[in-house]
Amino acid sequence: MTDFSKSTTPTILIVFGATGDLMRRKLIPSLYQLYQQKLLPPLFHVIGYSRREWSDDEFRALVSESLHGRIKNIDDGVIHPFLHLFSYSSGLFDTVDGYNKLAKRLGVRDKEWSTCANKFFYLAVPPEYYETIFRHLADSHLATSHSKESGWTRVIVEKPFGKDLKTAEKLDALLGKLFSEEQIYRIDHYLGKETVQNILAFRFSNSFLEHTWNRHFIERIHIKISERIGIEGRGEFFDGVGLLRDVGQNHMLQLLALFTMDTPQDFDPQTVRAKRAEVLRALQLFTSRDVTEHTIRAQYDQYKNEKNVDPSSNTETYYLIRAFIKNARWRGVPIILENGKSLKDEIVKISVKFRHPTPCLCPEGKHFHNVLRYQIQPDERITISFWVKRPGTEILIEEKDFAFDYKQAYPDTEFMGPYEKLLLDVLDGNQTLFVSTAEIMASWRFVDNILSAWKRGKQPILTYAPGSDGPLERTTLYPSSG
Ligand code: BG6
Repeated sequence: MTDFSKSTTPTILIVFGATGDLMRRKLIPSLYQLYQQKLLPPLFHVIGYSRREWSDDEFRALVSESLHGRIKNIDDGVIHPFLHLFSYSSGLFDTVDGYNKLAKRLGVRDKEWSTCANKFFYLAVPPEYYETIFRHLADSHLATSHSKESGWTRVIVEKPFGKDLKTAEKLDALLGKLFSEEQIYRIDHYLGKETVQNILAFRFSNSFLEHTWNRHFIERIHIKISERIGIEGRGEFFDGVGLLRDVGQNHMLQLLALFTMDTPQDFDPQTVRAKRAEVLRALQLFTSRDVTEHTIRAQYDQYKNEKNVDPSSNTETYYLIRAFIKNARWRGVPIILENGKSLKDEIVKISVKFRHPTPCLCPEGKHFHNVLRYQIQPDERITISFWVKRPGTEILIEEKDFAFDYKQAYPDTEFMGPYEKLLLDVLDGNQTLFVSTAEIMASWRFVDNILSAWKRGKQPILTYAPGSDGPLERTTLYPSSG
């Protein structure tokens, strides 16, 4: 990672939708952490762009308020200069005036610094605005790069990237016309989580794993993203989207890709991205019959009473999919994708169940399986269950755990938040943790078939009690979980 503290090129982050939720909840606290740790370039500035007619001071008040709600022990010596990194430019997303005003502001900065600054444009806006913002950025030459190393321009796009394969392709074609691939950073914040980054190191640096990581040794993989929270007042967005689009198409399938992709020749960004895309392309695309046989969708009781939700809504807040990968490594191994809101547990965990030994020297009706549990949150932990003889005169075999706790292993290390890591990677020009076009298209292709079969009523929507494990019917798709 480049040490930006010595960088002499000024850098400006321009955030579209700067008065919104993403800016308050994620971007401002992450920028503060980076600033406090002196990880940002010394000449750094943030311009917020939004519709509200605000002054710089009003915008700084938002920045300050967002920090005070979220960061403990704010350093008084840091907050003052930090707030002065921010300024504001008001404008509509779909008319040229705002962009001209913004261009003027950027010009003034460049003049002050007597150079062309690096610029990165962050689209923290609902996806329906992407197209118009991209076009205006390109038309006003705001996004023209001077060179790859200095005076560069990059654009950052949040998920959801499209709402199905067709819209994603359209958006991508437009982006491809206006920007080169190395300028485009598609964020999936799961890729920035420390334990998610560790998946590849864990898989490819431990030889005992690599030789058993295939259908001959693994019986099943279960990826579970379970949230206690419901839709948290996001009814307007969520009801038109559903959980499979909101989390399945992106975070869930990225976890699947990292756990099942083939060994890359190196950790070069393009190689890793190509391997992730390859396995996503190998996902078995479901027919209507497969959707009936291998998926479940459900909605928590009272969801229809949430604010801004259609009282007759069929939107899923839970799904379970038994996916399959059609390649030599994974053919026939069920990959269970389970995801829900308003559930009992708050956990993101991948359980890999190994086949029992053959011949199995186990008692009647029981098999000795090893299960690897890779927990991403709330605690970052890896455990592997194994079998031991209980001390004593009898041969009694019991299941115990080898356990590795990431935070206990590094007690003095502050874990970097995903948005901090991803912002630094954009500055660094490293796209490894960003999603490529090929990955986006492959994941939409898989998800689209399921969504359209659901829409055609191929799988009724079930219900479940908030705070439960999900709909009771889920156990028909997989036996007791590892
Ligand atoms: C977001 C989804 O992308 O990820 C939310 O829009 C979800 O619905 C969130 O709650 C989960 O992220 P995390 O980091 O809290 O697991």
